[in-house]
Amino acid sequence: MTRANIIAIDGPAASGKSTVAERLAKELGYLFFDTGIMYRAVTLAALEQLHAVDDEAQVTQLAESVQIDVDPASVQDGRMCDVLLGGRDVTWLIRSAQVDANVSQVSAYPGVRQAMTVQQRRIGKRGSVVMVGRDIGTVVLPEADLKVYLDASVEERARRRYVENQERGRQSDYEEILASMKRRDAIDSSRAVAPLKPADDAVILNTDGLSIEEVVDRLRQLSQ
Ligand code: DC
Repeated sequence: MTRANIIAIDGPAASGKSTVAERLAKELGYLFFDTGIMYRAVTLAALEQLHAVDDEAQVTQLAESVQIDVDPASVQDGRMCDVLLGGRDVTWLIRSAQVDANVSQVSAYPGVRQAMTVQQRRIGKRGSVVMVGRDIGTVVLPEADLKVYLDASVEERARRRYVENQERGRQSDYEEILASMKRRDAIDSSRAVAPLKPADDAVILNTDGLSIEEVVDRLRQLSQ
């Protein structure tokens, strides 16, 4: 059997996609690409430059012109990579509660998705890639050799995000995270364009109660 060349991993917020996908990519010597970063960077740009995300036409124009770069991590502070917006390091800014609260609205705009999808396809089609997001198996790379949909209960995902914040020394409230995650799930799953859902040919993996290592083991088996 040949090893999967293009691997698509989708799933809801904090399902553990990025952590396990990054490890798998490292093992395989593949590029790891987290597409959520791009929607977060556009959201940050809109909040900074437009002070709101409600004007769809303006946000779309911004998405079409903004320069987002993802480079290897230059600082050892827990980051997986450097995220640059117009050359400025915004790696942690794109993880703020304000971006969390607005990113689903921005990523529901069809013109924004179009602009991001074009760039993601170009990167994905080169192969030797593990690409992570919400619509990779359904829209961005439907030709992927392996499609996995990682799921977990919303309570488990909120708990993971809470622990992650604590580890980074960020104050947070579990109930607030849970409410924000439910809101985001609802918007991501119900939007008209590229809603969050498993591709028909995706392997669905529920990670409740599974360790990171166990999930990576399963992905490794699936990719062989
Ligand atoms: O994975 P994440 O939490 O960093 O994603 C941030 C937001 O971006 C999320 O609310 C949904 C959106 N997103 C998307 O719509 N399509 C993708 N391929 C990746 C992320």
